[in-house]
Amino acid sequence: MAFFRPKEDRQVQVDFDHLPRHIAIIMDGNGRWAKKRGLPRTAGHAAGAENFRTIATYCKDIGLDYLTVYAFSTENWKRPAEEVGAIMGLLKKYLLEAIGRMERDRVKMEFFGDLSPLTPELRELCERTREISKHYEGCQVNICLNYGGRDELLRAARAYAQDCLDGKADPGDLGEEQFSNYLFSRGVPDPDLVIRPSGELRLSNFLLWQSAYAEFYFTDVLWPDFTKEELLKAIAAFQGRSRRFGGV
Ligand code: FPP
Repeated sequence: MAFFRPKEDRQVQVDFDHLPRHIAIIMDGNGRWAKKRGLPRTAGHAAGAENFRTIATYCKDIGLDYLTVYAFSTENWKRPAEEVGAIMGLLKKYLLEAIGRMERDRVKMEFFGDLSPLTPELRELCERTREISKHYEGCQVNICLNYGGRDELLRAARAYAQDCLDGKADPGDLGEEQFSNYLFSRGVPDPDLVIRPSGELRLSNFLLWQSAYAEFYFTDVLWPDFTKEELLKAIAAFQGRSRRFGGV
């Protein structure tokens, strides 16, 4: 398959033949980006959503297999109703556009998280996006929506316990791979690289199980300013690391 090689690759040394297979991003810093410009926080989320579009398209263009983004956490419901409503509105706008260009883009879309508290309209859009794109091969984008790592682990534990009660599973046989199949991310390889822009140095309940051996990349750049070149810097840093997975 031929991939579009961006002009940025001349500025940052990236080996495009050995990209991480799966990159996960905590899209943080929208509020501060807006504040710096004297704009409402919602304008920061709009800029963040626009940047998500740019970065997701770029990931597809360079041939990345999986991109997972943290769009809305189980804790984000604590934000003012207006802000929550604005983020949901941006998601709706994005999904409608994504559906419109699906045949051209052929990006497989998945959602990690409990979608049941979303409006029926948004749930239906998620379902439709998932359904239309499920046979696409190539890049898969996972949007974490009403997602929390602890919530995901609790749900998995409950479902597994139920399977034990129903005689479908035996606790003595439980291994990592089997347990992974109870997570929202079932079938998706663990992220190799987790990126958090905006200067915060924490995981914030993101992919707790899946990021066990991920490499982390932090930058002070705020998410709406996180350009393709910033992504390439993160990939270059990843490629300079030595991954030993507990070995020597
Ligand atoms: C964190 O920044 C960002 C969020 C909680 C929302 C992220 C949502 C989007 C980028 C828009 C919708 C997404 C898609 C996929 C279309 P923050 O508000 O915590 O920033 P701050 O720490 O500077 O306040």
